[in-house]
Amino acid sequence: MKKTILIVLGALFVANAAVAAPKAKAPKPTKELLEKGKATFTVNCVACHGEKGDGTGPAAVALDPKPRNFSTDQFKNGDKPDQVFKTISEGLAGTPMVAYGHLSEEERWGLVYYVLEFHKKAGKKK
Ligand code: HEC
Repeated sequence: MKKTILIVLGALFVANAAVAAPKAKAPKPTKELLEKGKATFTVNCVACHGEKGDGTGPAAVALDPKPRNFSTDQFKNGDKPDQVFKTISEGLAGTPMVAYGHLSEEERWGLVYYVLEFHKKAGKKK
């Protein structure tokens, strides 16, 4: 009997953990997904991160810390697709970088790859 309860609790725990993580594995960065990322970025992110992703959006002057320059800055929460997905979904606590978990997973993956395009372009700072 005890064992059954433990198994049920275990299953619940696993189910819960699955909610926080993306449902599926990182999708492929197709052209369509990147287009979607660009459109979503223009609406939600340009004000701070700027059209070129260099952290010079119109709202940036008023911010502290400054928005990330995707091309030249390191990502403190990591720059692997999964890590950027988590950052976009949960935000960076205590900064103007808020959570965008309300966007669909597809939109967030689009953002991940769009942001990483900027990151690739200028090469990573060592
Ligand atoms: C209100 C301004 C603002 C908006 C809008 C905004 N960000 Fe940010 N973002 C920031 C700031 C500020 C930081 C840097 C925070 C820090 O230095 O801790 C940041 C950092 C980041 C980082 C780097 C995280 C890391 O690990 O260093 C990523 C990626 C990012 N933003 C993506 C996005 C995306 C995608 C959007 C649109 C969905 C977005 N941001 C919208 C202000 C903003």
